[in-house]
Amino acid sequence: MTTPSLDAMLAAADAGFPATLDRLCAWLRIPSVSAQPKHAADCARAAEWLAAQLAACGFAAEVKPTRGHPCVLAHHPGTGREAPRLLYYGHYDVQPAEPFELWRSPPFEPTVDERQITARGAVDDKGQVMTWLEAFRLWHAAAGGPPVPVTVLVEGEEEVGSPNLEAFLAEHRLSLDADLVVISDTTAWDRETPAIRTRLRGLLYTEIAIRAANRDLHSGLFGGSALNPINLLARILGALHDARGRVQIPGFYEGLVMPPEEVRAQWASLAFDEEAFLRDVGLSIPAGEADFPALERLWARPTADINGIWGGYTGPGAKTVIAAEAFAKLSFRLVPGQEPERIVDGLKRFVADRCPADAKAEVRVLSSGTGCVIDDSGPVFAAARAALAAEYGRPPVIGREGGSIPVVSSFRTMLGLDLLLMGFGLPDDRIHSPNEKFELACLRHGIRSHLRLLHALAG
Ligand code: BES
Ligand code: MN
Ligand code: MN
Repeated sequence: MTTPSLDAMLAAADAGFPATLDRLCAWLRIPSVSAQPKHAADCARAAEWLAAQLAACGFAAEVKPTRGHPCVLAHHPGTGREAPRLLYYGHYDVQPAEPFELWRSPPFEPTVDERQITARGAVDDKGQVMTWLEAFRLWHAAAGGPPVPVTVLVEGEEEVGSPNLEAFLAEHRLSLDADLVVISDTTAWDRETPAIRTRLRGLLYTEIAIRAANRDLHSGLFGGSALNPINLLARILGALHDARGRVQIPGFYEGLVMPPEEVRAQWASLAFDEEAFLRDVGLSIPAGEADFPALERLWARPTADINGIWGGYTGPGAKTVIAAEAFAKLSFRLVPGQEPERIVDGLKRFVADRCPADAKAEVRVLSSGTGCVIDDSGPVFAAARAALAAEYGRPPVIGREGGSIPVVSSFRTMLGLDLLLMGFGLPDDRIHSPNEKFELACLRHGIRSHLRLLHALAG
């Protein structure tokens, strides 16, 4: 194969941009909300849509069942070199769009203006999957396919913690053979500056239940005598952090490694504007651990957050009740070195130590994933750096990421693959919130960056 002209492909990407937007809109119209059983058929449709697109780009593409929503698995042998073999991973599922009334236009009726595309999934992750899918389409048109062997794995359960993906990796490990995983599901640094991420935080998600009396009680008849499980739960949750924001669960920080001095100095030199970061969401005062600067709190420190709390009476008006049960969802962002099992043990002890004999506490683990460290020394990483620098006219920020992609550590531990996290979202894209958007300039940079990376790997 003679390598096609990069300039011609970049020009074709721009000329075809309106059609790219049409395709993305078609995908975004499918409400593939993985968390809600009523959308199971939509998830399957979103998978079928993507498999058909990959087939049109010359891939052998299949929709493969799992115990949950299906995966899209596709292969292209490549048209030039035999290495590196790339595995592109993404997710077609999206977060629930509720509350609907806060959307300026319906979440599954995408709107495009001169600046951005707005819809649930616009950037997380359908729009970002589109950045490499469109690059494959352009390579297919110019050269009959990508210059190196490519496997595609796009799942439908990332937003619910990828509960069935490890089994899928195990079952299909032979057809997932590759050298490196490429993922576009993270953010750039800002509109003008690209980023490559070298670590993600892990996520441990738990639910706590506290049960006391054998029924709900009159709070006048029993108040002052009977144990109130909501009072108790509030006391336990209130003890999670000390006054400086440190998590009080025994052993929580065990195994955690501080970033080396030169890394912390590099982060300081990025001059992250926490005030602007918070202003965008209507806040002004940094919270969290008082003893660490913003990027360290976001990238290198673990957290404990209560995500939901319920029990007793929450309807209109007053009801004088002492409930029999109280519940909370409690999750932890973990950094590499922390072991989820050990933290669960510590949490169980932390809760049990604060429960009198009349209270029965239960701690359930809903999902658990460790943080991951990415090797940034390989040739593909260097090629990605150069591709981004050429596309944006400035080098990428090499940083970490506060969010999580559950499967990423399994790619390392189960399949032994290196990773490249090259994403094009912006911190203010409102992912998981109403009015999620992807800016057209970011989508364009993404497509062109993937074109450039493949071109560099073509040799
Ligand atoms: N794409 C995000 C991860 C992410 C978040 C990257 C913020 C960059 C910035 C991913 O889809 C996501 O939302 N992950 C979940 C995982 C969870 C549901 C197991 C997360 O981080 O909460
Ligand atoms: Mn995502
Ligand atoms: Mn997400």
